[in-house]
Amino acid sequence: MEIIIRLDADSAACEAARLIAEELRANPQLVLGLATGRTMESVYHNLVRMHQEEDLDFSGCRTFNLDEYVGLATDDPSSYHHFMKERLFSKVNIDPCNTHLPDPKASHLKAECKHYERLIVEAGGIDLQLLGIGLNGHLGFNEPFSALQSRTHVQTLDRVTRNQNALLFSDPARMPHQAITMGVGTILEARRCILIATGSNKADIIARSIEGKMTAMITATALQLHPACTVVLDEAAASNLSRMQVK
Ligand code: GLP
Repeated sequence: MEIIIRLDADSAACEAARLIAEELRANPQLVLGLATGRTMESVYHNLVRMHQEEDLDFSGCRTFNLDEYVGLATDDPSSYHHFMKERLFSKVNIDPCNTHLPDPKASHLKAECKHYERLIVEAGGIDLQLLGIGLNGHLGFNEPFSALQSRTHVQTLDRVTRNQNALLFSDPARMPHQAITMGVGTILEARRCILIATGSNKADIIARSIEGKMTAMITATALQLHPACTVVLDEAAASNLSRMQVK
């Protein structure tokens, strides 16, 4: 694992965006795995700025998001479809036909999960997967006890996740109980992973994910198996790493 530590959240987001841009410039047909959450807002802000000021070109790029809530309409302001459209897709030159998220309204959710996996395979697999981390160590919505070889599936959301994400709904009671998420196995097949975490509230879970024993209780520990994983942190999120505490 390569760990990059930057002074603050803005510089960490800048660094993550720089790494993504570098991959996209090297391979304009990049298959990019995308994530949502507050941490990603400034990563996407930086990518949009690079598109506007530095001609970063998304026209050949295909994207697959990690997850989506079950049951929300795609234009619901709390849906990840809406988040991605607002934060990135409508602001860069990506072809909407090349952007993919699981369909939250599919009548057969299991079939939708299989279909999503097939689409990823047909695209040649994910070149670069961007990841955030939940306070319980989830990647995507792979909650504690998710099999480390799981594929795209319907996941019942953990209490910690519901508390963390309910605040992003105008009415917290509207937060769905389930989501469709790429599995841990799906994520680990990406050729490269970049995880970004900022803020002192992530310090404990980051230390346990990077330095702790691998366990299905903390999905992010599975990244210890990945041959090309970069973790971008700010100093606050890195503050519980034992190497940081050696003077
Ligand atoms: C959601 C997403 C996760 C993401 C997490 C981080 O739960 N499903 O993929 O890692 O948010 O959220 P934040 O950046 O708001 O801490």
